Amino acid sequence: MLHTELTDRLGIVMPIIGAPMGGVAHGRLARAVTEGGGLGMIGVGSTATPELIDREAPVASDNGRLPFGIGLMAWALDNRPELLDATVVAHPMLVSISFGSSGPYVGALHAAGITVASQVQDATGAVTAADAGVDIVVAQGTDAGGHTGTVGTLPLLQLVLDAVDVPVVAAGGIATARGLAAALAAGAVGAWVGTCLLACPEANTKPEARAKVLAARETDTVLTRVFDVAQGIPWPERFAGRALRNRFTDAWLGRETELADDAGARRELVEARGAGAFDTAYIYAGQGVGLVRQSVSAAQVVRDLGEGAASFLAERFDALFGGELRPR
Ligand SMILES: Cc1cc2nc3c(=O)[nH]c(=O)nc-3n(C[C@H](O)[C@H](O)[C@H](O)COP(=O)(O)O)c2cc1C
Repeated sequence: MLHTELTDRLGIVMPIIGAPMGGVAHGRLARAVTEGGGLGMIGVGSTATPELIDREAPVASDNGRLPFGIGLMAWALDNRPELLDATVVAHPMLVSISFGSSGPYVGALHAAGITVASQVQDATGAVTAADAGVDIVVAQGTDAGGHTGTVGTLPLLQLVLDAVDVPVVAAGGIATARGLAAALAAGAVGAWVGTCLLACPEANTKPEARAKVLAARETDTVLTRVFDVAQGIPWPERFAGRALRNRFTDAWLGRETELADDAGARRELVEARGAGAFDTAYIYAGQGVGLVRQSVSAAQVVRDLGEGAASFLAERFDALFGGELRPR
């Protein structure tokens, strides 16, 4: 099968990490990804509590039987150290610290024997993360669902691979075996996937949201701060979120200052979330959403990605090198 520094380091069979998606990737999804041969992660959003970690970690690990990961946000941790404490106690194999400085947290995680990853959105961020002692740098392109930067996955991956010596994982827009094969061929040690798991039955998504994901095309996303502004979530301004375009984004994109003071619009969003009305409520998803066409188990998604990439790469190398594995 596919053998990389990532599969070696984490003891997994597929070079695939199930992205930590706040509110969506809880223990059930993480476990399904790991059962498929990858490593599943629990997403801990900025408003999550330590109890979420206490509750979901045993689900992800099937009571200590399976490895799993936890994804935290640096800017939120700075004011909420209790999330880091609960994470260490949960004993994940991998922890990601993204969206801010990972430096202050690497030492404590290493001391607990935990591998540390960090998602970065430009080459400078990659160098900073590697210098801080992060074990795995994740090049997260703007194609990605959820909060991200502005550089596309492919240019970012090339830049980050050239900039650091630590293993690099690619994130953003990888939703099929071809995408995984491309990332591995470029030099990444694996893929970090979120959007292609959104319609899985193990994801913590409502049926209405899954239906929207399955119907969406690659042109239906938008990079926006409107949902954070409307909820009063203090995300650093440089990280907007990629979500499905809807009535709310159409109404408020470019009018964020006005939105911050509009109590009616803020209330409308809260009500829509409660009612599962996704023409107003948000669904964070990346451009790869156009490739998500059916609701299958996360374990199956991981197997299809890994097995498909292995045979696709073998075929392509044969075609490119006329049956010889290496060029003469
Ligand atoms: C619904 C959703 C929620 C996300 N939440 C988080 C999060 O809480 N923490 C985090 O580090 N990344 C989060 N991300 C980003 C993912 O970790 C990852 O970068 C992204 O899903 C990869 O791109 P893809 O969606 O095209 O596969 C989220 C992504 C999505 C789609």
